[in-house]
Amino acid sequence: MQNNAVGKSFGRVNLLGEHLDYNGGFVMPLQLKLGVETKITENKQSNKITIRSNDYDDIFETNRLESKNHHWSDFALGSCKYIRDKYQIDIKDINIDISSDLPIGIGLSSSAAMNVSILKSLTKYFKIEMSKIELANAAFDVENKFVGVGGGIMDQYASVFGESNKALYLNTLNNEYEKIPLFNSSTFLIIDTGIKRILEKSDFNKKKALCISAAKKLKIDFLTNISDINIIDSKLLNKNEYKVTKHVVTENIRAKNGKDALISNNYKYFGELMSQSHNSLAKDFEVSINELDTIVRLCNEYGAYGAKLTGAGFGGAVVTLIKNDKVEEFKKNIVKRYNKAKFI
Ligand code: GLA
Repeated sequence: MQNNAVGKSFGRVNLLGEHLDYNGGFVMPLQLKLGVETKITENKQSNKITIRSNDYDDIFETNRLESKNHHWSDFALGSCKYIRDKYQIDIKDINIDISSDLPIGIGLSSSAAMNVSILKSLTKYFKIEMSKIELANAAFDVENKFVGVGGGIMDQYASVFGESNKALYLNTLNNEYEKIPLFNSSTFLIIDTGIKRILEKSDFNKKKALCISAAKKLKIDFLTNISDINIIDSKLLNKNEYKVTKHVVTENIRAKNGKDALISNNYKYFGELMSQSHNSLAKDFEVSINELDTIVRLCNEYGAYGAKLTGAGFGGAVVTLIKNDKVEEFKKNIVKRYNKAKFI
């Protein structure tokens, strides 16, 4: 054991394929340069784990890892519990210091980035060999089983396997992925609406439950098993189940087409797919809010190839695709019309 260790991990923006990772579909996250760094230092004979974060004022101290506290520190507790249970290590006498330059609660996967950075620092501190796949799965486990938000594997994979200049085209059915270079002549920009959301308190789990019940009624494992929304018997589903099914099926097709558009440098079509995705997330999946819709509309008004909400929705940020030489003017125009808008 060494007496200090650092783990660093990054956030992501999802370009296409929203709410597909728990439906066995394709997603396309891009790793960001903003992230979370966790430092573990020895705190001899304290008999405790002490957790601090530059994002929060309170300090959390505990010598128990059994249950979550509905507190930001739950990701750290869950990670410690994972390591303790799997590797039979008595975790105590440490400080966990988390520092982040990744905005939280705006759909850029700050939770997974924090989780992965904590796990990386713990494995270094306790000299545990953990493969990248296990790291991603461990972070997924902590988020789903300990913290209790039922997302898919996209954020953890983006954090562990992603790159900031290549989209990670991930098949969440088998977790195989390809890395695809971005467009040369246009850029993805992220715009924060200023409206934060907390996944645990949102309707995220309800949306997931609707997808599961729809798949069950259609007698399939995942909604992405359907390749054409017109072939299903809509009478088998209630209205809300039908709407989420429509989003998932059409979004999966958009993600696949988006991959081809990226490979063939068809930025115009990629932008159209982004806008169609937003429309579907707003009208069918119903996870948008007015502020996200407004920014998407403004992006399109000021010459973007397309724009969509990114991540779960319910608040947070928009991702847009814009020609490189229009970026500066575009930014000025958006902020002029929506003064809370913040470019990340
Ligand atoms: C959240 C979840 C992800 C994914 C997105 C929506 O960010 O953590 O797993 O489901 O929402 O695409």
